[in-house]
Order: sequence, then C-alpha cells, then structure tokens
Amino acid sequence: MRLDLEGKAVLVTGAASGIGLACARAFLAEGARVGVLDRSPVPGFFAVRADVTDEAEVAAAVDAVAREFGGLDVVVGCAGISGPVGAPLAEVTAADFAALLAVNVTGQFLVVKHAAPRLTAAQGSVVLLASDSAFTSAPGMVPYCASKGAVVALTRALSVELPGVRVNCVCPSVVDTPMARADLGAVLDEPAFPVQAAEDVACQVLYLTSARSRTVDGQALLADFGVSARSGFPA
Ligand SMILES: NC(=O)c1ccc[n+]([C@@H]2O[C@H](COP(=O)([O-])OP(=O)(O)OC[C@H]3O[C@@H](n4cnc5c(N)ncnc54)[C@H](O)[C@@H]3O)[C@@H](O)[C@H]2O)c1
Repeated sequence: MRLDLEGKAVLVTGAASGIGLACARAFLAEGARVGVLDRSPVPGFFAVRADVTDEAEVAAAVDAVAREFGGLDVVVGCAGISGPVGAPLAEVTAADFAALLAVNVTGQFLVVKHAAPRLTAAQGSVVLLASDSAFTSAPGMVPYCASKGAVVALTRALSVELPGVRVNCVCPSVVDTPMARADLGAVLDEPAFPVQAAEDVACQVLYLTSARSRTVDGQALLADFGVSARSGFPA
C-alpha cells in the first residue's frame, strides 16, 4: 500500500523517545519532512524544545515548524506521561491528578489548537496517542486511565470542530518503551505477556495520517492483540 506521505510537513510531539521517536523515523523513511517538539533534545530532526503544558511555548514551536516547512499537513501527539502508576487511590493527590491531565490532555489540546489554522488550510490530519487504558484498567491507574479516556473524547470533539481535518487517535496496549519499562520492568519480557513495539504503533499512526484512511475520522483505533474483545464467559 502506498501511503503517499512524501513531502508532507509533519509535526510529532514527544519524539525524543519511544512511540514519538518511532513515528518521526517512520515518517522520515516515507520521505516526509518531520519537525519535532519535545521537552528533551531530539538529535537528527528539525527540533523545537517546548513543554506541551506551556501554551506560549507550544504556539512558538508549532509556528517554527510550520514556517520551516511552509505549512503543516500532519500533527501526531505523542508527548505524554504515565505517573503516578501503581499508587493506591488514597495516595493520589489532586496535584498529581492535575499534573497528569495537564500533559496528557491539555498538552494535546494546545498542540492541535495552535496547529489548527495550518491543518485547515492543508486539509490535513491529526493522530493523538490515547491508550487501551481509555477502555480497560488495572489497579493504580486511575489518573492515567482518566486522561486517556479524555483523549478519546477530545479526538471525537476535535474531528467535529475542525471540518476538513481528520482527527483520530490510537489506543495501543503495552508498548515496549522507556515509559513502560519504568512502570512495568521485567514483566515486559515475560513471553506470555503481549507487548507491541513502538514501530507497530508507528504503522497504525502512518496509516491514519495518510489519504488511504480518508474515510476514517473521529475514531479510536484499539490495538491490543484482541485482549479486550474476550468475554468473561468461562469458555
Ligand atoms: N508505552 C506504552 O505502553 C503506551 C501504551 C499506550 C499509549 N502510550 C502513550 O504513548 C505516548 C508516548 O509514550 P511512550 O511510551 O513513547 O513514552 P516515552 O516516555 O518513551 O516518551 C514520551 C515522550 O514525551 C515527552 N514528554 C513528556 N512530557 C512532556 C511535556 N510536558 N512536554 C513535551 N514533551 C513531553 C518525553 O520527553 C518523551 O520524549 C504517551 O502519550 C503514552 O501515554 C504508551
């Protein structure tokens, strides 16, 4: 399948690591022009240091990438944090909860808000990183699950808000990245535990940004090896 992403102007957030880095490399391999936004440096790309929770920094970073490429066709929102993971509810403070939502939800909102005029001009597309945690949970994941459920709703609302711009999100199960390693450690290496690679997610993202998915808008692509499809029925 030809994705026809050659020459597209792409902005990837959170591209210093994990899924964002895999997406940035995959777009580059397709011949796209890739600008990245992260709070950490990203060697090898047109990179702007910014914190997605800071509106002025986001606005300046989006503007810098759009000026470098003469517009913006695609935005991929990967910047995110997971913590506090594993903390019992009684120990999760309002400040912890707000800090997580600030990055995972407000950060995605701000990037799309400031990219919207250019995306509208280009009739472009957006893919946001949600998670299977929007639909399933494990103990100690209340803030993260709430944030990812919000990203699914944000995706649907943005797809309505921005005519001509397709907005979708991907909802992967556990992906082997520094974030997951820090939270789950050696569990990732257990053969019975289904783990995907950042490159698997990049394939989902590239498809959703390409014209091959032109009829897909406002959707959440749940990629979890089919785990969530299984009934609790004892069979
Ligand atoms: N790893 C998983 O199992 C998994 C599963 C489903 C969804 N996700 C989601 O995928 C996205 C990427 O996760 P990952 O596993 O690659 O994590 P990661 O920690 O490897 O990478 C996250 C990147 O986001 C950047 N970032 C974090 N906060 C930022 C901020 N305030 N401003 C700018 N940049 C910031 C980091 O510097 C880093 O480069 C996240 O939204 C995460 O919630 C991850």
